[in-house]
Amino acid sequence: MANVCVIGTQWGDEGKGKVVDWLASRADIVVRFQGGHNAGHTLVVGGETYKLSLLPSGLVRGKTGVIGNGVVLDPEALLSEIARVRSQGLDVGPHNLRIAENVPLILPLHPALDRAREAARGGGAIGTTGRGIGPAYEDKVARRAIRLADLAEPDTLSAKLDELLRHHNTLLAGFGAETFRKEPLLARLLDLAPQLLPYAEPVWELLAEARAAGKRILFEGAQAVMLDVDHGTYPFVTSSNTVAGNAAAGAGVGPEAIGMVLGIAKAYTTRVGSGPFPTELDDETGREIGRRGHELGTVTGRPRRCGWFDAAMVRQAVKIGGVQGLVLTKLDVLDGFRELKICTGYRLNGAVLRRLPASPAAQAAARPVYETMEGWSDSTRGARSWAELPAQAVKYVKRIEELVEAPVVLLSTSPERDDTIMMRDPFAG
Ligand code: GDP
Ligand code: IMO
Ligand code: MG
Repeated sequence: MANVCVIGTQWGDEGKGKVVDWLASRADIVVRFQGGHNAGHTLVVGGETYKLSLLPSGLVRGKTGVIGNGVVLDPEALLSEIARVRSQGLDVGPHNLRIAENVPLILPLHPALDRAREAARGGGAIGTTGRGIGPAYEDKVARRAIRLADLAEPDTLSAKLDELLRHHNTLLAGFGAETFRKEPLLARLLDLAPQLLPYAEPVWELLAEARAAGKRILFEGAQAVMLDVDHGTYPFVTSSNTVAGNAAAGAGVGPEAIGMVLGIAKAYTTRVGSGPFPTELDDETGREIGRRGHELGTVTGRPRRCGWFDAAMVRQAVKIGGVQGLVLTKLDVLDGFRELKICTGYRLNGAVLRRLPASPAAQAAARPVYETMEGWSDSTRGARSWAELPAQAVKYVKRIEELVEAPVVLLSTSPERDDTIMMRDPFAG
């Protein structure tokens, strides 16, 4: 039986959380493999809303959750999220949440540096979530990160903090920000250690054993291909690889374990933070999409920028991300629009491109080439079968399939878990 990997194909917030929660009923283990608490995944189950940032969405279904080594983990954020979901009645503890012992940690100096750098960028700011994601990944690659397992060794921790502070305090002072002292940081980490270490494990081994026992694994991506540090709209991206290929490295499994790759796409496009967005609608239509779609960032509460569906971009994400099936979400938000537009390419310097160019200047200058389609007046909200969809909505979905060169395997028609239409079972391989 195949495993499944879910990734975003736009700029995040496509509805990955809802889709992963829905699919988790067919899985045994749900694994986060990149990103951190910059992610915000909203699940609505029978009127109860769960907002998850670090916890794998499968926990809501009572499945085992794994946080892989490819994640950057803020211990304080993790513990407060666990406390929050426990207060909502979820059972989360070391018996059903396992964390890679080699996961790098986010310490308070990381968000401090993130914010100091964003402030220094002024008008050129990336619009990060300010949670220290970029600085934490930099420390990992620079080989000075503190990792979960280090919490068990006070001497190692102390020596690593010396190195980390030498680097960070120099930078923070340069930006005119407050510096950090070692003693309180060390004391806090040693305090947290007994709360965190019971979760730590070589999760590669757990996953290898699960695979040998024929268990089904669901890999839950955060962010999206256009925020990928290599393939996205650099530098307006996050600091990890968000593509399905990274699920292997970020969880500690081989590439053959990833299984069927599902790309999630909204039936239109949104983006939070700065950066190019060719189909952005800075007009009443864009605001109307935002209102109907409740497009406010889960993590930062910032309004999301809204625009038409960009098929050229999603096609690119399909190819780069290895997407075999598309999940189209929020179709219901388009109910009642007289006409809809789909971007099929970009006009740039007199030529028409079918892909986003790599340079930020060219991305900003690219103008969308649109195809216009008739909308539908009947409601698709809450539809649970293909037969309930208005004919024009079916045409819209079919056109998207053709343009992005991937079949639509699931369709989501409201935030509620069960308002989902399945065309093909992704776990069937
Ligand atoms: P994620 O980051 O990809 O998990 O997406 P978010 O949870 O940040 O944002 C998606 C938002 O859309 C959430 O508020 C979901 O509850 C909501 N949502 C998901 N699917 C649908 C859908 O099909 N229709 C509508 N109207 N809302 C949806
Ligand atoms: P989910 O998993 C939408 C964006 C930020 C910013 C850029 C870099 O909910 O889809 P970072 O803090 O990661 O260094 O910020 O990436 N960003 C997201 N946008 N959804 C997310 O996650 C995001 N995670 C980061 O807004 O533009
Ligand atoms: Mg989100």
